[in-house]
Amino acid sequence: QRSLLGLKDLDASEISQLLNRTAYWDNQKEKLTPVLEAHFISNMFFENSTRTRFSFEMAEKRLGAQVLNFTSAASSVEKGESIYDTVRTLESMGIDAGVIRLKPAGVLQQLAEKVSIPLINAGDGNNEHPTQALLDLYTMKQAFGELKGLKVSIIGDIMHSRVARSNLWALTKLGAQVQFCAPENMRASELAAYAPYVSIEEALKADVVMMLRVQLERHASDMLQSAEDYRRQYGLTEERASKLDKHTIIMHPAPVNRNVEIDDAVVESSQSLIFPQMANGVPVRMAVIERALL
Ligand code: CP
Repeated sequence: QRSLLGLKDLDASEISQLLNRTAYWDNQKEKLTPVLEAHFISNMFFENSTRTRFSFEMAEKRLGAQVLNFTSAASSVEKGESIYDTVRTLESMGIDAGVIRLKPAGVLQQLAEKVSIPLINAGDGNNEHPTQALLDLYTMKQAFGELKGLKVSIIGDIMHSRVARSNLWALTKLGAQVQFCAPENMRASELAAYAPYVSIEEALKADVVMMLRVQLERHASDMLQSAEDYRRQYGLTEERASKLDKHTIIMHPAPVNRNVEIDDAVVESSQSLIFPQMANGVPVRMAVIERALL
């Protein structure tokens, strides 16, 4: 039984194994493979989600698991119960694994040390979002065959991005080259030792252009430039996208602020793999759940 708290602590072979099992589940034509029939999994989301929550639920149901969905807004968290007591409550009722999304970074690690069931990180503050990065890597592998030697530009709100961090750790372990592009107020200085910050012009000369959502809810409003200024300086506008090399793929973890970090038409363009990324969330999460419980 294995937790998945992040990709920083996995080695390259463990990440490759997960990507190989993702391919296995992706190629599985049967919708239901009930290998987890006797297992109960709780999806515990203390922060909102659409893609991660539903693709975990889809993955669990495809594996035949019994699924308990927990959302903090409809729980005793509203009466002041702690995250720890909530997880211990579900554990004491007999769940076999917990998928968990939390707003404060670092709490997940402490929880994992105190409970005996495997925990799977579904988004941990600005720390890591390992299953998102795994589906991103799988999408890149589908496009290019291998990750070694790829140049990947991650553009936007790096400071608040758990997606950027998990991608950085995993991509560099697998031999890809990562560079960041962000305005000063969205940079993460502690990551500068691992990936350089480059201009938007330089960032667009890459195999993968990964745009990030401006996380408006995590910025003080007076610290932000206007959406139009951001689009002009850092957005993947139709004009910028038209100058990308034809082999370059466009990615975004979503949700997307259309016409802020990426233009509406670019989301839907032939170089965009934003919707295939979402589809890949299901087999990735099947592989991660299988690793946790079998
Ligand atoms: N990419 C992602 O984590 O989306 P959700 O917040 O909708 O789960």
